[in-house]
Amino acid sequence: MAFSFFKKSDKKASTENTGNTHYHQLNVKNIKWETKDAITIFFQQPEKKIHYKSGQFLTLIAPIAGKEIRRAYSLCSSPFTDEDLVVAVKRVDQGLMSNWLLDNLKIGDTIKVMEPMGHFTTEFDKTRKRHLIMFAGGSGITPMMSHIKSVLTQEPDSIASLIYCNRDIESIIFKDDLSSWETNYQGRLHVIHILDNAPMNWQGYSGLLNPEMLKKLFERIPDWGLEKTTYLMCGPEGMMKNVETLLAQHNIPADKIFKESFVQGTIDKDKKDEIPEAESGNRAHEVTIRYDGNEYKVMVEPHRTILETALDQGIDLPYSCQSGLCTACRGRALSGKVKLDEEEGLSQAEREAGYVLTCVGHPLTDDVVIEIG
Ligand SMILES: Cc1cc2nc3c(=O)[nH]c(=O)nc-3n(C[C@H](O)[C@H](O)[C@H](O)COP(=O)(O)OP(=O)(O)OC[C@H]3O[C@@H](n4cnc5c(N)ncnc54)[C@H](O)[C@@H]3O)c2cc1C
Ligand code: FES
Repeated sequence: MAFSFFKKSDKKASTENTGNTHYHQLNVKNIKWETKDAITIFFQQPEKKIHYKSGQFLTLIAPIAGKEIRRAYSLCSSPFTDEDLVVAVKRVDQGLMSNWLLDNLKIGDTIKVMEPMGHFTTEFDKTRKRHLIMFAGGSGITPMMSHIKSVLTQEPDSIASLIYCNRDIESIIFKDDLSSWETNYQGRLHVIHILDNAPMNWQGYSGLLNPEMLKKLFERIPDWGLEKTTYLMCGPEGMMKNVETLLAQHNIPADKIFKESFVQGTIDKDKKDEIPEAESGNRAHEVTIRYDGNEYKVMVEPHRTILETALDQGIDLPYSCQSGLCTACRGRALSGKVKLDEEEGLSQAEREAGYVLTCVGHPLTDDVVIEIG
């Protein structure tokens, strides 16, 4: 959901514009092991700097097992404080890209990426006074790191609180960084760790976040009132659902809560087969796509997505996760009816404004016109 609430190596990275979508070749300047199953990758900025906003992600593209695989990785660097473009990757059991990156990537390698995308962003303003309360789980810390650095350095009157859930102490990514920022920005950053498996001497919280625990956590961080507070979350689906329920019990309105999903949850992948025949007529529909000054027309067969069809025809549209999560493929339907297999990536406001995700979108009528960008 959109959160737009209203040191150099001698190798040079390059930028290419293939068709419409901008790609970059980035040099791996450094790799740091954060935990035994998570690395931070530091990419050198190309000569022509890549601009991004806190909360956006890079799409990494790599040839793995004979296929071009792309996956989204949130930037944990801040455009205000970091020289490099930095992402952190956590190993996923049997995962194609994460294992490939952790096991193969070396300093000095070049990797293809798409320009930064995503809407889990906000503008920073020196005159602003707000409290960002963040809930992160595991690798979901990455966009929060960028927001934390940006808010601490760009908004001297704002504060941030982070409630960070992990399996155990060893799996806490950025533990030392967080602790030193807490010290350096005293009173402006509050970090509370929650562990699934806490060691004997653990002074903090452990177990599943529950109403009683949330009440206690909220007592430990400043209360700046609803008007000035925004809630952000990123982590495993179960954690986010739980936090959403608990915040609702605390009477936090949904429009104050912004989330980024990394993983397709209980989305029914067979939903494509559920396109109501009466609505779609069970036949192909023409879709007009306007992107980057061009207009394309594609006939989208039932049970195929608009993005799949366009890519098959060599139209280089932007996309990353292909799961309706990252919003890289977001466009606005100017006319016609589009059914989405998955709506989680879009906020209520975006849906009402006619935004659709082409990677999970199927036309139901012949007059669909989608504007991207
Ligand atoms: C907007 C966005 C930002 C992201 N940012 C980050 C980031 O900063 N750091 C990071 O490590 N990942 C991030 N991800 C997740 C990342 O894109 C990949 O999905 C993840 O690395 C797994 O890819 P894979 O190819 O290794 O696994 P796949 O081969 O795609 O999946 C293997 C299996 O693991 C499951 N799975 C996929 N991802 C996860 C996960 N995260 N946790 C548990 N199970 C999973 C899949 O459902 C599948 O069953 C982000 C995703 C999105 C959409
Ligand atoms: S490509 Fe990620 S939402 Fe469509």
